[in-house]
Parts: sequence; structure tokens; C-alpha cells
Amino acid sequence: MGPYRDIVILTGAGVSAESGVRTFRDNDGLWEEHRVEDVATPEAFARDPKLVQRFYNLRRAQLPTVQPNDAHKAIARLQKELDGRVTVVTQNVDNLHERGGAEGVIHMHGELCRVRCVHCGMRHDWTTDCTQATPCPSCGAAPGLRPDIVWFGEMPYHMDLIYTRLRACDLFISVGTSGNVYPAAGFVAEVRRIGHAHTIEVNLEPSAGVSYFEECRHGMAGELMPPLVDELLKKGQ
Ligand code: OAD
Repeated sequence: MGPYRDIVILTGAGVSAESGVRTFRDNDGLWEEHRVEDVATPEAFARDPKLVQRFYNLRRAQLPTVQPNDAHKAIARLQKELDGRVTVVTQNVDNLHERGGAEGVIHMHGELCRVRCVHCGMRHDWTTDCTQATPCPSCGAAPGLRPDIVWFGEMPYHMDLIYTRLRACDLFISVGTSGNVYPAAGFVAEVRRIGHAHTIEVNLEPSAGVSYFEECRHGMAGELMPPLVDELLKKGQ
């Protein structure tokens, strides 16, 4: 197989696990001591905005304390050195791909380091705490800012671009995602439907979508990604 010239890499929480960022489904259904429905839905924000803001403030404050790992770095190296295009689509809201050197990362579930005004719609880069008293830098409304995170029941970002890249790619790699949350969980099926791309799963354990992948490598992303990238670069020479 290969050489590959147009690669799409989908990542999930598992790619950041070795950096010390907790995954969602490996802790008895609790995410940093909260049920997902209590912090990651529009209803939760309407019911208890202070709790939700505090939750995301803590996640945002954690970012400078964690570092990109070998999986993030390997993906960035592939992007730089491959004679072709590598699109990184992530479900993660951290900034570890960028800090590992990746460019043009598509954050389909939003980003911790951005907030959005529910009144004027403007987005702002944000690295500090945000509260219900923080005025929107654009329109001044308070409360108005919310984390720019795609919560359950909301539409993921950049779907047109993602599907265009999925249909064009010749290799699709899924790294560190349990395959439970759609639409990302359905990307591999879409790639197979089009029919011309190879598909590889890299995950600690078989994901919910494992049967869709032609090739699977099970183990730690930080250990499996560097040799996979070496192979792809060698094939591409
Ligand atoms: P999950 O927590 O559902 O799955 C993480 C996957 O990574 C699991 O299958 C683990 O086995 C695997 N894993 C853990 N450590 C790993 C390692 N070191 N190397 C490789 N794999 C490892 O996370 P996601 O699939 O990303 O949505 O979850 C998808 C979405 O559900 C998230 O984006 C989030 C969540 O609710 C929103 O916040 C909107």
C-alpha cells in the first residue's frame, strides 16, 4: 500500500492521554468528577452557568501544565515531511497538536482557548478565566461569553471541509478515539463508502468501530505513532 499523498488523521482524547489529559470514557463515566450531562450540554449551561464556566476554566488552566507527547510530535512531523497533504481533524479541545507543531488543525468540537459571545457571535482567543461577569470584548454584553466548545446536542464545526477531505484522502488514520460519538465515529464508514483510501486504527484497545478498519495497531499512541510515521515517510520517498 502507498505511497500516500493525501492523509486525514482523526484524533480523540487518547492522543492526549500520555500528556496527562484525562479521557472521557475511561473513568467510570465521570470526566474530572463530573457527569458529561452536567457540564457539556447547552441545558447544563442554562441551568448552572457558573459550574460550567468553572469546569472549563479549570480545563483551560491545566493546558500550560501539560506538554505535547510523541504522538502529537509524530503527527506534526508527518505533516511537515510528507510529500503531500496531511489534514489533522481533532475532537480534542486542548491545544497540544498545535504546540506539538501541527498546522491548520481542524477542531471539530471547538477549543478551550476560545470563547464565543452568545449575543454578537464573535469569537475571542482566551487563555484566562471567563465568568458570567466577564464582558464580551466586542459588544460588552455580560453575561454573554461561553466556552467555544461544541456540547452534546450542538452541531460540530467545519463538517463540509472535513467531509471534502475525507472523500479526497488516500489514507485515513484514527488515533485515540473510542468511536462512540458521532459524527466523528462515522468518518471511517464514509471513507470506506467512497472506497479508495486505506484505513488504520491506532488505539489502546479495539474501538467501537474497529471492524471498519482494514488495519489496526493497538497500544499507546505515543509508542505507535512515531514508527507508523517513519513507515509512511519511507513509503512516500
Ligand atoms: P474517549 O474517552 O471516548 O475515548 C478515548 C479512547 O482512547 C479510548 O478508546 C481509550 O482506550 C483510548 N486511549 C486511552 N489512552 C490511550 C493512549 N495512550 N493511546 C491510545 N489510545 C488511548 O474519547 P473520544 O473518543 O475522544 O466531546 O471522545 C469523543 C468525544 O466525546 C469528545 O470529543 C468529547 C466527548 O464527550 C465533546 O466534548 C463534545
